[in-house]
Amino acid sequence: MVQVDQVVAGYTRDVDILNGISLHAASQEIVTLLGPNGCGKSTLLKTIAGYLRPRKGRVQLAGKDVSALAVHQKIRHCSLGFVPQTENIFTALTVRENLLIGGYYQSSAQRQQRIEQLCALYPVLRRKIDAPAASLSGGERQILALGRALMPRPEILLLDEPSAGLSPKVLHEVFDAIVRVREQEGVTILMVEQNAMEAMRISDRAYILSLGTVALTGSTQELVTDPKVRELYMGGRV
Ligand SMILES: Nc1ncnc2c1ncn2[C@@H]1O[C@H](COP(=O)(O)OP(=O)(O)OP(=O)(O)O)[C@@H](O)[C@H]1O
Ligand SMILES: [Mg+2]
Repeated sequence: MVQVDQVVAGYTRDVDILNGISLHAASQEIVTLLGPNGCGKSTLLKTIAGYLRPRKGRVQLAGKDVSALAVHQKIRHCSLGFVPQTENIFTALTVRENLLIGGYYQSSAQRQQRIEQLCALYPVLRRKIDAPAASLSGGERQILALGRALMPRPEILLLDEPSAGLSPKVLHEVFDAIVRVREQEGVTILMVEQNAMEAMRISDRAYILSLGTVALTGSTQELVTDPKVRELYMGGRV
């Protein structure tokens, strides 16, 4: 599970981007974060992952306070996977090489076995295994980024806009890939999305952020019918 309590964080000493934000994702939940551009969604994922350290408040993964750990420590020791919003694959390398890098801390045998499993879960990876990642389509790149993050078998996955720039059909393929990993591997997923309605369809709950804090939260069933969602999503405030 992921638990964020009253976190304050920012990139420079005098500017807070996250203003005391609290939220959680229970084990095996899919939780979506929505909100206007610049409201701090990526900053929140980066803070949970450990690229930024909270100035105040606490981040817990699986019940442990990990606020002070850096991203590589969380990936190695806290069963965390992170797919950033941009530059989430190595385009100069092949699909296989990208997956091998994702399994950096695993033994060679573990990596081979895990690549086989991921190719079974996502057949597109098998079809393109020796292709340069630069030759993949947008949807294939997102699935490779997902596969790379899944190499060490994380229990918690942070996804920053996995459907960005994808056509509706490909968006569904990527969301199917996300649902499948929750079903088959029981992964807890916290994802940022702009395709609000589509993302809520595969999520259990959602948070709508505004100015570095939670403006609205609830089950996706409640939120899809709430008129405030549209207002906030378009950049308004409660
Ligand atoms: N590396 C950085 N250094 C300084 N400020 C940054 C950095 N990254 C983001 N910011 C600032 O933090 C604020 C929140 O940015 P963030 O990327 O978290 O927004 P977001 O909600 O993910 O937006 P988007 O929907 O456009 O991806 C913005 O004002 C942005 O300019
Ligand atoms: Mg962002």
